[in-house]
Amino acid sequence: MLIVLSLGGSILAKDLDSDRFLKYATVLRDISKKHTLLVITGGGEAARNYIGAARAMGADEVTCDYIGIEITRLNARLLIAALGPDGYPEIPLNYLEASKAMNSGKVVVMGGVTPGQTTDAVAAILAEYLRADLLTIATSIDGVYSSDPNCDSSAVKYDTISPEKLISIVMAIEMKAGSKSPVDPVAAKIIERCKLDALVMDARDPALLGEILGEEAAKKSPISCGTWITVRK
Ligand code: UTP
Repeated sequence: MLIVLSLGGSILAKDLDSDRFLKYATVLRDISKKHTLLVITGGGEAARNYIGAARAMGADEVTCDYIGIEITRLNARLLIAALGPDGYPEIPLNYLEASKAMNSGKVVVMGGVTPGQTTDAVAAILAEYLRADLLTIATSIDGVYSSDPNCDSSAVKYDTISPEKLISIVMAIEMKAGSKSPVDPVAAKIIERCKLDALVMDARDPALLGEILGEEAAKKSPISCGTWITVRK
């Protein structure tokens, strides 16, 4: 299978713990023995801190986005270091470069690409471009809920959801101040337009990520730690 993985900065680069990078690298290396794998790293707390500092100086939002992109690429650089010879040594700066790097047989790692979105959107666009078999959004939430579970105790988790339903949930959450949707709205729209199978999963435990992407993902059956977004009935 060809898998594009959005690896949230909040789970990968939390505390900049080098052991955590190495654990994810081990798991990604194993997955890449069975599947072709491209990874998009998020910015996490460092991106939020840098963007906060820039915003406080009065920087415009595009400048803030460029700063965020730099941090996502720094995390990509760290993950490539953790992968050693199994990681593709360069960070693709766009989708074309990523598609060329994919044929290297190594784990390709990249960060953000363009202002106005997050790395979830980069992963979704790359998955569409490469006609990936699976897009995985690895995050700290165990799937898609009917509303933001941090703000609404009655929120229920879906095992499977259609792309159209995902868009309506994401848009409703984005409209509410202080809420954070599990999937970037741009990514949700891309998933809908290319009818891509996508999995949103809690990947705070690297071993669980390895288990799901190594074996379970091929079955595409419901899992307790995630939500499938699919047009399949
Ligand atoms: P992230 O993808 O990390 O955003 O990009 P996030 O929602 O905070 O995700 P987590 O916490 O890592 O899981 C960080 C920032 O970088 C900019 C945006 O400002 C984004 O908020 N960015 C990233 C872009 O402008 N374009 C991109 O293609 C990627």
